Amino acid sequence: MSPQKLSSDKKRATFLGFQPPAVGEEEVAAVADAIRSGWLTTGPRAAELERRFAEYTGAKHALAVSSGTAAMHLALVGLGVGPGDEVITTPITWPATANVIVHTGATPVFADVRDSDLNIDPERVAELVTPRTKAIMPVHLYGQPADLDPIRALGLPVVEDAAHAAESEYRGRKIGAISEATCFSLYATKSIAAGEGGIVTTNDDGLAEAIRALTIMRRGHGSLYDIAVPGYKANLSDVLAAIALCQLDKVERHRVLRLRQVELYDAALAELDGLEPVARDPRDLHAHHLYPVRVDRNRAGGTRDEYRSALADENIGTSVHFLPVHRLTAYRERFPEQSPLPVAERAGDELLSLPLSPAHSEQDIEDAIEALRRVHASLATG
Ligand SMILES: Cc1ncc(COP(=O)(O)O)c(C=O)c1O
Repeated sequence: MSPQKLSSDKKRATFLGFQPPAVGEEEVAAVADAIRSGWLTTGPRAAELERRFAEYTGAKHALAVSSGTAAMHLALVGLGVGPGDEVITTPITWPATANVIVHTGATPVFADVRDSDLNIDPERVAELVTPRTKAIMPVHLYGQPADLDPIRALGLPVVEDAAHAAESEYRGRKIGAISEATCFSLYATKSIAAGEGGIVTTNDDGLAEAIRALTIMRRGHGSLYDIAVPGYKANLSDVLAAIALCQLDKVERHRVLRLRQVELYDAALAELDGLEPVARDPRDLHAHHLYPVRVDRNRAGGTRDEYRSALADENIGTSVHFLPVHRLTAYRERFPEQSPLPVAERAGDELLSLPLSPAHSEQDIEDAIEALRRVHASLATG
Protein backbone atom coordinates (compact mmCIF):
# COMPACT_ATOMS: atom_id res chain seq x y z
CA MET A 1 0.00 0.00 0.00
CA SER A 2 1.48 3.38 -0.93
CA PRO A 3 1.89 5.99 1.81
CA GLN A 4 -0.69 8.12 0.00
CA LYS A 5 -3.26 5.35 0.19
CA LEU A 6 -2.50 4.72 3.85
CA SER A 7 -2.88 8.42 4.53
CA SER A 8 -6.32 8.78 2.98
CA ASP A 9 -7.50 5.58 4.75
CA LYS A 10 -6.75 6.95 8.19
CA LYS A 11 -7.44 10.61 7.66
CA ARG A 12 -9.34 12.34 10.45
CA ALA A 13 -13.00 12.79 9.61
CA THR A 14 -13.18 16.36 10.91
CA PHE A 15 -10.66 19.19 10.79
CA LEU A 16 -8.59 19.53 13.97
CA GLY A 17 -8.35 23.23 14.80
CA PHE A 18 -4.88 24.42 15.63
CA GLN A 19 -5.63 26.20 18.91
CA PRO A 20 -9.32 26.50 19.85
CA PRO A 21 -10.12 28.33 23.10
CA ALA A 22 -11.04 26.17 26.11
CA VAL A 23 -14.17 27.97 27.30
CA GLY A 24 -17.37 26.50 28.71
CA GLU A 25 -20.51 27.15 30.68
CA GLU A 26 -18.66 29.06 33.45
CA GLU A 27 -17.61 31.70 30.95
CA VAL A 28 -21.13 31.84 29.46
CA ALA A 29 -22.64 32.38 32.91
CA ALA A 30 -20.03 34.98 33.88
CA VAL A 31 -20.71 36.99 30.70
CA ALA A 32 -24.45 36.81 31.32
CA ASP A 33 -23.90 38.06 34.89
CA ALA A 34 -21.73 40.92 33.68
CA ILE A 35 -24.33 42.02 31.15
CA ARG A 36 -27.14 41.77 33.71
CA SER A 37 -25.08 43.85 36.14
CA GLY A 38 -25.22 46.79 33.74
CA TRP A 39 -21.40 47.14 33.66
CA LEU A 40 -20.50 46.75 30.02
CA THR A 41 -17.42 48.93 30.18
CA THR A 42 -14.60 48.88 32.76
CA GLY A 43 -16.01 48.25 36.24
CA PRO A 44 -15.76 45.92 39.23
CA ARG A 45 -14.82 42.82 37.20
CA ALA A 46 -11.85 44.55 35.58
CA ALA A 47 -10.81 45.76 39.05
CA GLU A 48 -11.12 42.22 40.42
CA LEU A 49 -9.06 40.87 37.53
CA GLU A 50 -6.33 43.40 38.34
CA ARG A 51 -6.34 42.45 42.00
CA ARG A 52 -6.28 38.71 41.30
CA PHE A 53 -3.66 38.93 38.58
CA ALA A 54 -1.37 40.98 40.81
CA GLU A 55 -1.79 38.28 43.45
CA TYR A 56 -1.16 35.53 40.87
CA THR A 57 2.07 37.06 39.57
CA GLY A 58 3.26 38.60 42.83
CA ALA A 59 3.56 42.01 41.15
CA LYS A 60 2.64 45.16 43.08
CA HIS A 61 0.37 46.45 40.30
CA ALA A 62 -1.62 44.82 37.50
CA LEU A 63 -3.41 47.05 35.01
CA ALA A 64 -6.06 45.61 32.73
CA VAL A 65 -6.05 46.98 29.18
CA SER A 66 -7.62 46.24 25.81
CA SER A 67 -4.89 43.99 24.31
CA GLY A 68 -1.38 42.69 24.77
CA THR A 69 -0.34 45.16 22.09
CA ALA A 70 -1.83 48.05 24.10
CA ALA A 71 -0.09 46.72 27.22
CA MET A 72 3.31 46.92 25.52
CA HIS A 73 2.61 50.28 23.89
CA LEU A 74 1.46 51.90 27.12
CA ALA A 75 4.42 50.46 29.02
CA LEU A 76 6.85 52.01 26.53
CA VAL A 77 5.06 55.37 26.49
CA GLY A 78 4.85 55.26 30.29
CA LEU A 79 8.62 54.76 30.43
CA GLY A 80 9.08 57.82 28.23
CA VAL A 81 10.23 56.00 25.07
CA GLY A 82 9.81 58.22 22.02
CA PRO A 83 11.33 59.60 18.81
CA GLY A 84 15.12 59.31 18.59
CA ASP A 85 15.24 56.37 20.99
CA GLU A 86 16.11 52.78 20.19
CA VAL A 87 14.51 49.69 21.69
CA ILE A 88 16.17 46.29 21.31
CA THR A 89 13.91 43.33 20.69
CA THR A 90 13.78 39.91 19.06
CA PRO A 91 12.90 39.20 15.43
CA ILE A 92 11.19 35.90 16.34
CA THR A 93 7.94 37.26 17.69
CA TRP A 94 4.48 38.37 16.66
CA PRO A 95 5.04 41.69 14.86
CA ALA A 96 3.09 43.57 17.56
CA THR A 97 6.22 43.54 19.73
CA ALA A 98 8.08 45.62 17.16
CA ASN A 99 5.04 47.57 15.99
CA VAL A 100 4.57 49.20 19.39
CA ILE A 101 8.17 50.44 19.30
CA VAL A 102 7.37 52.07 15.94
CA HIS A 103 4.16 53.53 17.38
CA THR A 104 6.17 55.42 20.01
CA GLY A 105 8.36 56.94 17.27
CA ALA A 106 11.40 54.96 18.44
CA THR A 107 13.47 52.61 16.26
CA PRO A 108 13.31 48.83 16.76
CA VAL A 109 16.73 47.20 16.81
CA PHE A 110 16.63 43.45 16.30
CA ALA A 111 19.05 41.18 18.17
CA ASP A 112 19.46 37.64 16.89
CA VAL A 113 18.07 34.71 18.87
CA ARG A 114 19.74 31.66 20.42
CA ASP A 115 19.60 28.56 18.27
CA SER A 116 18.48 26.46 21.26
CA ASP A 117 15.23 28.05 22.49
CA LEU A 118 14.95 30.84 19.89
CA ASN A 119 14.73 33.46 22.63
CA ILE A 120 16.64 36.73 22.26
CA ASP A 121 20.38 36.19 22.78
CA PRO A 122 21.65 38.37 25.67
CA GLU A 123 25.13 38.52 24.11
CA ARG A 124 23.75 39.97 20.88
CA VAL A 125 21.67 42.43 22.93
CA ALA A 126 24.78 43.65 24.76
CA GLU A 127 26.54 44.29 21.42
CA LEU A 128 23.66 46.46 20.20
CA VAL A 129 23.32 48.81 23.20
CA THR A 130 24.07 52.45 22.29
CA PRO A 131 23.54 55.74 24.14
CA ARG A 132 20.16 55.89 22.36
CA THR A 133 18.93 52.55 23.73
CA LYS A 134 15.97 53.34 25.97
CA ALA A 135 14.59 49.86 26.71
CA ILE A 136 14.93 46.15 25.96
CA MET A 137 11.92 44.01 25.05
CA PRO A 138 12.54 40.27 25.41
CA VAL A 139 9.73 37.86 24.49
CA HIS A 140 9.16 34.66 26.46
CA LEU A 141 8.76 32.65 23.31
CA TYR A 142 6.19 29.82 23.44
CA GLY A 143 6.20 30.16 27.25
CA GLN A 144 9.95 29.54 27.75
CA PRO A 145 11.28 32.54 29.70
CA ALA A 146 13.97 34.56 27.96
CA ASP A 147 17.28 34.67 29.83
CA LEU A 148 16.44 37.71 31.94
CA ASP A 149 19.41 37.95 34.33
CA PRO A 150 22.07 38.93 31.74
CA ILE A 151 19.56 41.20 30.01
CA ARG A 152 18.67 42.99 33.23
CA ALA A 153 22.36 43.23 34.13
CA LEU A 154 22.73 45.72 31.25
CA GLY A 155 20.98 48.25 33.49
CA LEU A 156 18.30 49.40 31.04
CA PRO A 157 14.53 49.29 31.58
CA VAL A 158 13.14 45.92 30.50
CA VAL A 159 9.61 45.52 29.13
CA GLU A 160 8.83 41.82 28.90
CA ASP A 161 6.46 40.52 26.25
CA ALA A 162 4.81 37.76 28.27
CA ALA A 163 1.94 37.12 25.84
CA HIS A 164 2.88 33.41 25.92
CA ALA A 165 3.99 33.27 29.51
CA ALA A 166 1.13 33.78 31.98
CA GLU A 167 2.21 30.75 34.01
CA SER A 168 5.96 30.87 33.41
CA GLU A 169 8.71 31.12 36.00
CA TYR A 170 12.29 32.14 35.38
CA ARG A 171 14.72 30.37 37.74
CA GLY A 172 11.97 30.02 40.34
CA ARG A 173 10.71 33.61 39.98
CA LYS A 174 7.23 34.19 38.60
CA ILE A 175 7.13 36.11 35.33
CA GLY A 176 5.36 39.40 36.00
CA ALA A 177 7.22 40.58 39.07
CA ILE A 178 10.79 40.77 37.76
CA SER A 179 11.28 43.69 35.35
CA GLU A 180 10.13 47.30 35.06
CA ALA A 181 7.02 46.13 33.17
CA THR A 182 5.62 42.80 31.99
CA CYS A 183 2.90 42.61 29.34
CA PHE A 184 0.39 39.78 29.05
CA SER A 185 -2.22 39.08 26.38
CA LEU A 186 -5.77 37.81 26.89
CA TYR A 187 -6.23 37.11 23.17
CA ALA A 188 -8.45 34.15 22.18
CA THR A 189 -5.61 31.61 21.92
CA LYS A 190 -3.77 32.55 25.09
CA SER A 191 -3.62 30.71 28.43
CA ILE A 192 -6.03 33.22 29.94
CA ALA A 193 -8.27 33.80 26.93
CA ALA A 194 -10.87 36.55 27.14
CA GLY A 195 -11.12 36.95 23.37
CA GLU A 196 -9.25 40.25 23.52
CA GLY A 197 -7.47 42.02 26.35
CA GLY A 198 -4.13 42.54 28.03
CA ILE A 199 -2.53 43.18 31.41
CA VAL A 200 0.60 45.14 32.40
CA THR A 201 2.26 44.27 35.67
CA THR A 202 4.85 46.42 37.41
CA ASN A 203 6.33 46.98 40.85
CA ASP A 204 6.92 50.66 40.07
CA ASP A 205 4.25 52.98 41.53
CA GLY A 206 5.14 55.84 39.17
CA LEU A 207 4.97 53.67 36.06
CA ALA A 208 1.68 52.15 37.19
CA GLU A 209 0.22 55.62 37.65
CA ALA A 210 1.54 56.75 34.24
CA ILE A 211 0.02 53.71 32.50
CA ARG A 212 -3.25 54.16 34.35
CA ALA A 213 -3.39 57.79 33.17
CA LEU A 214 -2.64 56.80 29.56
CA THR A 215 -5.11 53.89 29.42
CA ILE A 216 -8.22 56.04 29.21
CA MET A 217 -8.95 59.76 29.12
CA ARG A 218 -9.48 60.77 32.73
CA ARG A 219 -10.71 64.03 34.07
CA GLY A 220 -7.74 65.48 35.93
CA HIS A 221 -7.00 67.60 38.97
CA GLY A 222 -10.40 66.83 40.51
CA SER A 223 -11.96 69.28 38.08
CA LEU A 224 -15.41 68.96 36.62
CA TYR A 225 -14.08 68.87 33.07
CA ASP A 226 -10.38 68.99 32.32
CA ILE A 227 -7.74 66.48 31.31
CA ALA A 228 -4.22 66.29 32.67
CA VAL A 229 -2.94 63.58 30.27
CA PRO A 230 -4.15 63.03 26.68
CA GLY A 231 -4.98 59.36 27.26
CA TYR A 232 -5.63 56.61 24.75
CA LYS A 233 -8.74 54.40 24.83
CA ALA A 234 -7.26 51.09 25.88
CA ASN A 235 -9.37 49.99 28.83
CA LEU A 236 -10.77 46.48 29.27
CA SER A 237 -14.53 45.94 29.39
CA ASP A 238 -16.10 44.08 32.30
CA VAL A 239 -17.67 41.57 29.90
CA LEU A 240 -14.20 40.46 28.83
CA ALA A 241 -12.80 40.70 32.37
CA ALA A 242 -15.56 38.28 33.45
CA ILE A 243 -14.25 35.69 30.94
CA ALA A 244 -10.65 36.32 32.00
CA LEU A 245 -11.53 35.71 35.66
CA CYS A 246 -12.98 32.27 34.80
CA GLN A 247 -9.90 31.48 32.76
CA LEU A 248 -7.61 32.52 35.59
CA ASP A 249 -9.38 29.95 37.78
CA LYS A 250 -8.51 27.27 35.22
CA VAL A 251 -5.03 28.41 34.23
CA GLU A 252 -3.02 25.77 36.09
CA ARG A 253 -5.40 22.94 35.19
CA HIS A 254 -5.16 23.93 31.54
CA ARG A 255 -1.37 24.05 31.69
CA VAL A 256 -1.28 20.48 33.00
CA LEU A 257 -3.52 19.37 30.11
CA ARG A 258 -1.18 21.02 27.59
CA LEU A 259 1.83 19.51 29.34
CA ARG A 260 0.40 16.03 28.75
CA GLN A 261 -0.02 16.89 25.06
CA VAL A 262 3.59 18.12 24.97
CA GLU A 263 4.76 14.77 26.42
CA LEU A 264 2.86 12.88 23.71
CA TYR A 265 4.47 15.00 20.99
CA ASP A 266 7.95 14.74 22.52
CA ALA A 267 7.74 10.93 22.57
CA ALA A 268 6.52 10.80 18.97
CA LEU A 269 9.07 13.26 17.63
CA ALA A 270 11.93 11.27 19.10
CA GLU A 271 11.18 8.71 16.35
CA LEU A 272 10.87 11.16 13.45
CA ASP A 273 14.19 12.17 11.93
CA GLY A 274 14.44 15.84 10.96
CA LEU A 275 11.59 17.05 13.17
CA GLU A 276 12.88 18.60 16.38
CA PRO A 277 11.03 20.33 19.20
CA VAL A 278 12.41 23.73 20.25
CA ALA A 279 14.62 23.43 23.34
CA ARG A 280 13.21 24.07 26.80
CA ASP A 281 15.24 24.94 29.90
CA PRO A 282 14.52 22.57 32.81
CA ARG A 283 15.49 25.30 35.29
CA ASP A 284 12.40 27.27 34.27
CA LEU A 285 8.65 26.69 34.36
CA HIS A 286 7.42 26.61 30.78
CA ALA A 287 3.87 27.75 30.03
CA HIS A 288 3.59 25.46 26.95
CA HIS A 289 1.59 28.03 25.04
CA LEU A 290 2.63 26.47 21.72
CA TYR A 291 4.28 23.29 20.47
CA PRO A 292 6.68 24.39 17.74
CA VAL A 293 8.70 21.92 15.69
CA ARG A 294 11.70 22.69 13.51
CA VAL A 295 11.53 20.97 10.15
CA ASP A 296 15.01 20.25 8.79
CA ARG A 297 14.19 19.90 5.10
CA ASN A 298 17.13 17.62 4.32
CA ARG A 299 16.47 15.08 7.04
CA ALA A 300 12.67 15.43 7.11
CA GLY A 301 12.38 15.11 3.32
CA GLY A 302 10.26 18.23 2.93
CA THR A 303 10.07 21.90 3.78
CA ARG A 304 7.99 23.36 6.60
CA ASP A 305 5.45 24.54 4.02
CA GLU A 306 5.23 21.06 2.46
CA TYR A 307 4.63 19.56 5.89
CA ARG A 308 2.04 22.21 6.62
CA SER A 309 0.06 21.59 3.48
CA ALA A 310 0.31 17.78 3.80
CA LEU A 311 -1.00 18.05 7.37
CA ALA A 312 -3.87 20.27 6.18
CA ASP A 313 -4.71 17.54 3.65
CA GLU A 314 -4.83 15.22 6.65
CA ASN A 315 -7.34 17.57 8.36
CA ILE A 316 -4.75 18.75 10.88
CA GLY A 317 -4.49 22.51 11.45
CA THR A 318 -1.05 24.00 12.06
CA SER A 319 0.45 27.48 12.23
CA VAL A 320 3.78 29.33 12.01
CA HIS A 321 5.36 31.11 14.99
CA PHE A 322 7.04 33.17 13.70
CA LEU A 323 8.44 34.65 10.52
CA PRO A 324 11.33 36.99 11.37
CA VAL A 325 9.86 40.47 11.78
CA HIS A 326 12.77 42.32 10.16
CA ARG A 327 12.03 40.50 6.88
CA LEU A 328 8.37 41.58 6.74
CA THR A 329 7.53 44.26 4.18
CA ALA A 330 6.86 47.13 6.61
CA TYR A 331 10.19 46.55 8.34
CA ARG A 332 12.24 45.92 5.21
CA GLU A 333 10.92 49.15 3.68
CA ARG A 334 11.15 51.31 6.78
CA PHE A 335 14.38 49.97 8.24
CA PRO A 336 16.36 48.72 5.22
CA GLU A 337 19.65 48.89 7.12
CA GLN A 338 18.89 45.87 9.34
CA SER A 339 21.88 43.54 9.58
CA PRO A 340 21.34 39.86 8.78
CA LEU A 341 20.11 37.71 11.63
CA PRO A 342 21.09 34.23 10.50
CA VAL A 343 19.76 32.19 13.42
CA ALA A 344 16.33 33.84 13.26
CA GLU A 345 16.20 33.61 9.47
CA ARG A 346 16.89 29.90 9.43
CA ALA A 347 14.37 29.26 12.21
CA GLY A 348 11.77 31.32 10.36
CA ASP A 349 11.98 28.89 7.44
CA GLU A 350 11.71 25.82 9.67
CA LEU A 351 9.13 26.52 12.36
CA LEU A 352 5.80 24.74 12.39
CA SER A 353 3.38 24.77 15.34
CA LEU A 354 1.29 21.65 15.97
CA PRO A 355 -2.22 21.66 17.50
CA LEU A 356 -2.12 22.31 21.26
CA SER A 357 -5.04 23.30 23.43
CA PRO A 358 -6.76 22.21 26.64
CA ALA A 359 -9.86 22.00 24.44
CA HIS A 360 -8.25 19.08 22.57
CA SER A 361 -8.53 15.49 23.81
CA GLU A 362 -5.58 13.11 23.93
CA GLN A 363 -7.19 11.35 20.96
CA ASP A 364 -7.03 14.62 19.01
CA ILE A 365 -3.31 14.86 19.69
CA GLU A 366 -2.86 11.17 18.79
CA ASP A 367 -4.63 11.93 15.51
CA ALA A 368 -2.22 14.80 14.85
CA ILE A 369 0.73 12.52 15.67
CA GLU A 370 -0.54 9.72 13.40
CA ALA A 371 -0.98 12.21 10.59
CA LEU A 372 2.52 13.57 11.19
CA ARG A 373 3.93 10.04 11.04
CA ARG A 374 2.20 9.37 7.73
CA VAL A 375 3.37 12.67 6.25
CA HIS A 376 6.90 11.98 7.46
CA ALA A 377 6.86 8.47 6.01
CA SER A 378 5.63 9.85 2.74
CA LEU A 379 8.04 12.82 2.46
CA ALA A 380 11.13 11.39 4.15
CA THR A 381 11.11 8.31 1.93
CA GLY A 382 10.41 10.43 -1.14
C1 LIG B 1 4.50 37.16 21.29
C2 LIG B 1 3.26 38.00 21.21
N1 LIG B 1 3.32 39.29 21.58
C3 LIG B 1 2.26 40.09 21.54
C4 LIG B 1 1.04 39.63 21.10
C5 LIG B 1 -0.09 40.60 21.01
O1 LIG B 1 -1.13 40.34 21.88
P1 LIG B 1 -2.60 40.89 21.52
O2 LIG B 1 -3.11 40.08 20.38
O3 LIG B 1 -3.38 40.67 22.78
O4 LIG B 1 -2.47 42.33 21.19
C6 LIG B 1 0.92 38.28 20.71
C7 LIG B 1 -0.30 37.66 20.22
O5 LIG B 1 -1.36 37.89 20.07
C8 LIG B 1 2.05 37.46 20.76
O6 LIG B 1 1.99 36.17 20.38
